[in-house]
Amino acid sequence: MKRSSLAPLVAALFLAGGSGAAEAQDRAIERKVEALLKRMTLEEKVGQLHQLSGRQMTGPGSEKFADKLADIRAGRVGSMLNVKGVSETREIQALALQSRLKIPLLFGLDVIHGYKTVFPVPLGEAASWDMEAIRQSAAIAAKEAAASGIHWTFAPMVDIGRDPRWGRVMEGAGEDTYLGSQIAIARVKGFQGEKLGALDRVMATAKHFAAYGAAIAGRDYNAADMSEHQLHEVYLPPFKAAADAGVATFMNSFNTLNGVPATASAYLQRDLLKGKWNYKGFVVSDWASIKELVEHGHAADLAQAAAQAIDAGSDMDMEGYAYTRHLADQVRSGKVKQSRLDESVRRVLVKKFEMGLFDDPYRYSDAAREQAALNDPEHARIARDVARKTLVLLKNEQNALPLSKGLKSLAVIGPLAEAKRDLEGGWIVQSDTSRVVSVVEGLRGALPDTRLLVAQGCDVACASSAGFADAVAAAKQAEAVLLVVGESWDMSGEAKSRADIGLPGQQAQLFDALAATGKPVIVVMMAGRPLVFNNVADKAAAILYAWFPGAQGGNAVADVLVGDYNPSGKLPMSFPRSVGQIPISYQQYRTGRPVVNEANIVYRSAYIDSPNTPRYAFGHGLSYTSFAYGDLAISKPSMKRGDKVTVSFTLANTGARAGEEVVQLYIRDKVASLVRPVMELKGFRKLKLEPGERRTLSFQVDRDTLSFHNAKLQWVAEPGEFEIMVGSASDAIRLRGALTLSD
Ligand code: BGC
Repeated sequence: MKRSSLAPLVAALFLAGGSGAAEAQDRAIERKVEALLKRMTLEEKVGQLHQLSGRQMTGPGSEKFADKLADIRAGRVGSMLNVKGVSETREIQALALQSRLKIPLLFGLDVIHGYKTVFPVPLGEAASWDMEAIRQSAAIAAKEAAASGIHWTFAPMVDIGRDPRWGRVMEGAGEDTYLGSQIAIARVKGFQGEKLGALDRVMATAKHFAAYGAAIAGRDYNAADMSEHQLHEVYLPPFKAAADAGVATFMNSFNTLNGVPATASAYLQRDLLKGKWNYKGFVVSDWASIKELVEHGHAADLAQAAAQAIDAGSDMDMEGYAYTRHLADQVRSGKVKQSRLDESVRRVLVKKFEMGLFDDPYRYSDAAREQAALNDPEHARIARDVARKTLVLLKNEQNALPLSKGLKSLAVIGPLAEAKRDLEGGWIVQSDTSRVVSVVEGLRGALPDTRLLVAQGCDVACASSAGFADAVAAAKQAEAVLLVVGESWDMSGEAKSRADIGLPGQQAQLFDALAATGKPVIVVMMAGRPLVFNNVADKAAAILYAWFPGAQGGNAVADVLVGDYNPSGKLPMSFPRSVGQIPISYQQYRTGRPVVNEANIVYRSAYIDSPNTPRYAFGHGLSYTSFAYGDLAISKPSMKRGDKVTVSFTLANTGARAGEEVVQLYIRDKVASLVRPVMELKGFRKLKLEPGERRTLSFQVDRDTLSFHNAKLQWVAEPGEFEIMVGSASDAIRLRGALTLSD
């Protein structure tokens, strides 16, 4: 045999060996779990499903501390959250190892956007549209957390968010299902690596299952109510993508979905997740969400709540005390089947084996590794690089940006100009402002020869205009004016819904006062959500949206302001003109009365007091260079079901600087059995081009690209015509073509 003809055979054998080894390992774990299960008492089994918070063990309300320690020693606790650091995790693990069966604890924590090194908030990272950057950010968070004894992060949040009043949009990937699914995969891979058990990785959690982001009126924890079609089309795919990427666990959600609390939803957890999707990991409840079944009026008492939740497929009870108090009795009385309990315990134990905790329960708690990981200067460098990619240049008139490095003076004004804690954003493990670079500090580094005239103007709440005069005076003296405004870190996140998503207090008036000087005002805006800021959008010379950019935020912002980095972020959520437009998405359904002529909207699906369009559209983001799109070619005009079609085009950098563009592919299904959205994102790519460089790019379109959930929830591609759109934003389509799908 010639060498070349052997290669595929060798590859096939190798692959078979590889997956064979994994299967053998799975079977070995199964056997160990079954053997262990046989030795466990009912109480010990229930213990594996009880997750306890370490936070409640110290400080006020900690009088039951001793009881909790006793529970751990007795094997009545399976997992802890909010315990961190090598010494703490070792100390508590040692208690679990005093129990009869010595089953190790799993330590979970909300490592949402960094552990010690704070990265940009997840919505900001989504704006990078850079899957490698997102993966890397999660990988570094995992490395630091894992070295500190953490086994498991409660991230990524993959809830789609189309309502910026909902503060938790900060933790997600925005409004789009396709982008959200890609980001879900990148984050799961970043946290977990290729296989559970590596010492620099942690288990991830896809949360909150499901439809938590559809809280009515954007009020956190509120009910969600939607068609099954919408659930399957919009809200579930990122969860399915995470499951397919091997996410170790799911977390259910606080909300009801169509009248049933998600925590008690057998439809979601048992039929869909563990049934149709054949998911093998375990489901943890959200914080006390099993207990809240009583508050919802779905269970009469905690005992019934326990039965409902386990029957529905919630495996582990986070701080709800329903399982630990009632599950054993429920099983003894026959209200809950023994097999239900065993199945949940099995799922939890499998993960403990896969993480290697039975081999060495302390393997993640390593003082030397913790020391090295938490002080690795490379992590700050990467955080800066990731942060630069998340910044979105919304507006830039007459090339107000980048700032000239020869500026003599620059006024840096605003409540967030020198802020540190705010740049970290919400949901961080531990604030360490000594590691945070403010915008002023970043600018000092980037513009060493420029005199910075710093004036706060007001604090974030901006209840008083007393400081405005000083700010205006600074602006008048300076060659250029920069205003840094936005939310404080604790205005976005869990339980941080806002009915008014404008700039807080009188910040908009501070901007007006500066604009009244006649000088061009450049605005940097920070927030965990899209804000409404029409006066700034109308009058600012330039606007850079910085989200909460993390510890390296000031450096990243300065890099962009002075042009050391050419901005490349694109919005992962529509920015409305007013709260009245919410919920808002580029992916709206077609209506029978679309607006065809803005000048005549009579009896059209329109507002009489506002355009339908957002202030800034999904996918929007400017660069210091310009890109030209051309030469759209679709490899064949018509395709059959099994075919693949290539959509290709050229992209050229027509400006004077190197820059990155995010090219976006959208489709429209022209006629279908269910009315389809006006457009849907189906592909994107981020790439860098040198000035004058031109490249041919292509996207593959196949049956999957053209499919949707029909009225029977089947995933189908219906024959007919499709519009193919390529552009640099959902409102900046540069190329259009057509494709027909035949039977
Ligand atoms: C949040 C979850 C989080 C959990 C544990 C809950 O309130 O909804 O996202 O993982 O707390 O901290």
